[in-house]
Amino acid sequence: MNGVLVIDYGSQVTQLIARRVRAARVRCDIVPCGRIREGIERRQPLAVILSGGPASVTDAESRRHIAELQPVLALKRPVLGICYGQQLICAALGGRVQRARVREFGRAQLQVVEGDSLFHGIAPPKKSLDVWMSHGDRVDALPPGFRVLGTSEHAPFAAIGDARRALYGVQFHPEVVHTRDGARLLQNFAQRIADCPATWTMRRVAAQLIEQLQAQIGDREVLCGLSGGVDSSVAAVLLHRAVGQQLTCIYVDSGLMRANESAEVVGLFRQHYPMRLLHCRAQARFLRALKGVAAPERKRKRIGKLFVDLFQEEAKKRPRATFLAQGTLYPDVIESTSVGGPSRLIKSHHNVGGLPARMRLKLVEPLRALFKDEVRALGRSLGMPPPFLRRHPFPGPGLAVRLPGEVTPKKLAILRAADAVYLDAIRRAGLYDKIWQAFAVLLPVRSVGVMGDARSYEHVCALRAVTSTDGMTADFYPFSARFLGAVATRIINEVPGINRVVYDVSSKPPATIEWE
Ligand code: XMP
Repeated sequence: MNGVLVIDYGSQVTQLIARRVRAARVRCDIVPCGRIREGIERRQPLAVILSGGPASVTDAESRRHIAELQPVLALKRPVLGICYGQQLICAALGGRVQRARVREFGRAQLQVVEGDSLFHGIAPPKKSLDVWMSHGDRVDALPPGFRVLGTSEHAPFAAIGDARRALYGVQFHPEVVHTRDGARLLQNFAQRIADCPATWTMRRVAAQLIEQLQAQIGDREVLCGLSGGVDSSVAAVLLHRAVGQQLTCIYVDSGLMRANESAEVVGLFRQHYPMRLLHCRAQARFLRALKGVAAPERKRKRIGKLFVDLFQEEAKKRPRATFLAQGTLYPDVIESTSVGGPSRLIKSHHNVGGLPARMRLKLVEPLRALFKDEVRALGRSLGMPPPFLRRHPFPGPGLAVRLPGEVTPKKLAILRAADAVYLDAIRRAGLYDKIWQAFAVLLPVRSVGVMGDARSYEHVCALRAVTSTDGMTADFYPFSARFLGAVATRIINEVPGINRVVYDVSSKPPATIEWE
C-alpha cells in the first residue's frame, strides 16, 4: 500500500489533497518539503503530488526547492504539481515562470483543451469548468515535452502535462470544494495515471493497525485514557481487539464533565465491551487544582498536569504497563511538522509533543495516520454502535474552558444544567447529527432582569453550535429564531442563576470553537 506522497510546501489546504486522494481509496501521506528524500525512502510512493505554497518561484527559497526536487523526478513515477507545485516543475524542467500581471484569486473558468488524462470523465475539449485559483506567479513558457491541457482567462497554461513522462501541473486547486470536479481529477491522477491500487479501505486499515499494535505492544500492558469522545473510544476498541486483556482503560471523572456524562460513557462501554475499565473519581482533586485560577492557559495546564499525574499513579500500580494510548489524529501530526504551515499554537490542546520526560510510559498513537471522518469510518468498520461514534467532540479540559474565569462547583452546576437543556432541545428538534458541536458557555458577566415582579441580577449564558468537517474551520449553525427563542425561555425558566441567553454567531477563524 504505497500510494501517493504529497510534498507540502506550506499551502493552507495541503491536508485536503490527502483527504481527496484517500476518498478515492488510495493511500496518501504528506511530508514537509524539507524531508523529501526521507519521505520517498520510507513510503516508496507510486506517485507524487507537489502542493501549493506561499513562496514564489522568483524567490531564492525556491531555488532550494527546485534542487530538492531531484529525488522526485528520479523516481520516474507520475507527478502532479498544484499551483506553486506546477511552477516548480516548470522551473525545474526548463520552462519559464513569471509574476503574473493580473493575479487570480477565487473562482475562475477553465477551458478544457485535452479531455482525456486529468480530465477523463469530467469534461470534453472546449467545455469549461468552475475552478478555484489563488496565485501571483504563472507559467509563461512550457518546458520541452509539455502540452496545454486547459487554459483560463489569465493563465494560458492553467493545466499542462507531459504524458510520456507522466508529469502534470495545474494552476488551480483541485483539492478545494469550489473546484467542482477536483476530487475526480485527483482520482484520475492517482488511479488512472499512476495506477495506484484502491486499497485504502477501513477494513484493511483496521487489520493493519491491529497487526502493528500487536507487534509494538507484544506481551506488555497498555493504558488508555477514555474520555467518551470518538477518538479515544475508537482507539480503545482497536486496542482491545489487538491486545485484549493487556489493555486497561481509565475513565477520569474530572468533575468537569457534562450532565450524566460519566454514567453514560462508563455504562456504554461496560454494556458493549468486556474490557478492564477503571472509573477514576477525581472531582475533588481537579477542583482543588483549579482553585483561584482564572487565566485560560493556566487552567488548561493545571488540568493537563493532573491527568498525567493520575495516569502515572495508575501506571505505578501496574508494573507491566509500558504504554499509554492517545488518540492523536493526522491533522495534529501534520500541524506540528508542516513547513511554516498554516498552524501556530493557539491553545495548548494539541496532543503531539509527547509526554513529560518524568513519565516512564511510551506513547501508542494508533490513529495518528487518520483524519477525523476516517476515525468514524474505522469505528463503523469495527462494528461500534452509533452512540459511540455520533457524540459531539468534547474538549479534554471539559466545562472548565466553557466557564471563563475561576471554576467553582456552583458555576459548574449552573453551566451543566443549561447545557443539558440546550442539548435536549437540539436532540428533540432532530438537529444533533447536523451539528458538529453544540454547547453552552457561562459568561462571567451578570445582567439585570425582571423575573416575576422582582429585579434579578444573574449570569449570562452564551449558546454555541457550529458546523465543521474537522474542527479546523467552522461556521455557526443557523438555528431558526423560533428555536433559539424557545431554548432561551427554557434555560431561563429551568436553570436558576441565568436570566439572559445569547447566541454566538462567530465563525472559526477568526474566533475559535471553544471560548477558552
Ligand atoms: P478550538 O476551540 O481550538 O477547538 O476551535 C477545536 C476543536 O478541538 C476541541 N478542543 C479540545 N479537544 N482537548 C481536546 O481534546 C482540548 O484541550 C481541546 N480544546 C478544544 C474543541 O472542542 C473543538 O472540537
